[in-house]
Amino acid sequence: MDQNRTAALEKMAEEVRNLRESPLYEYRQAHNYAMVFGEGSPHAAIMFIGEAPGQTEAKTGRPFVGAAGRLLNDLLSSIGLNREAVYITNIVKDRPPENRDPTPAEIQLYQPFLLRQIELIQPQVIATLGRFAMDFVLNQFNLPEQGQKISVLHGKLLQAQTSYGPISVVPLFHPAVALYTRDKEATLRNDFQVLKQFTEQS
Ligand code: URA
Repeated sequence: MDQNRTAALEKMAEEVRNLRESPLYEYRQAHNYAMVFGEGSPHAAIMFIGEAPGQTEAKTGRPFVGAAGRLLNDLLSSIGLNREAVYITNIVKDRPPENRDPTPAEIQLYQPFLLRQIELIQPQVIATLGRFAMDFVLNQFNLPEQGQKISVLHGKLLQAQTSYGPISVVPLFHPAVALYTRDKEATLRNDFQVLKQFTEQS
């Protein structure tokens, strides 16, 4: 089972690597960047979804390995987990130039791959990092909270229906935002504790 999921994820990653129609493909090639598909346990109970890779991620091909990633690692250890116990990915799999916000077209292009990652891994909870990932997941699963702000929804345990059954969704502030706003970091640390109830299965 594990090998099947791992192989399916690798196959999917290869598809994204060859996605020449992506508006970010040329930029990736020109800068010798890697596509960042996601990493962690293919059986993770907790899936983290961020926005898009930054420069360190694009250089290494791994999600959340820069400054924001170090904070994420620290937050994970605060609930007794490490990166291998969870799955970490982004909506957009290639770095947008100068870390600009992803465009709607880019989000749409990578959308099927993220949905396939969710369907394959079947997490019990999706923790969204930042407003883009929150909006994506709330819209995708048609949650009644759609359109509400992250300042209202952060740290709340929301319920969603997927093709494989009911799951929880926890919107969190983006760790990069928490890095330069002290009170957001405190809030993020506090909100993270909501995930503790899912750590038994991780
Ligand atoms: N920010 C993100 O949203 N994702 C990463 O992988 C790194 C930084």
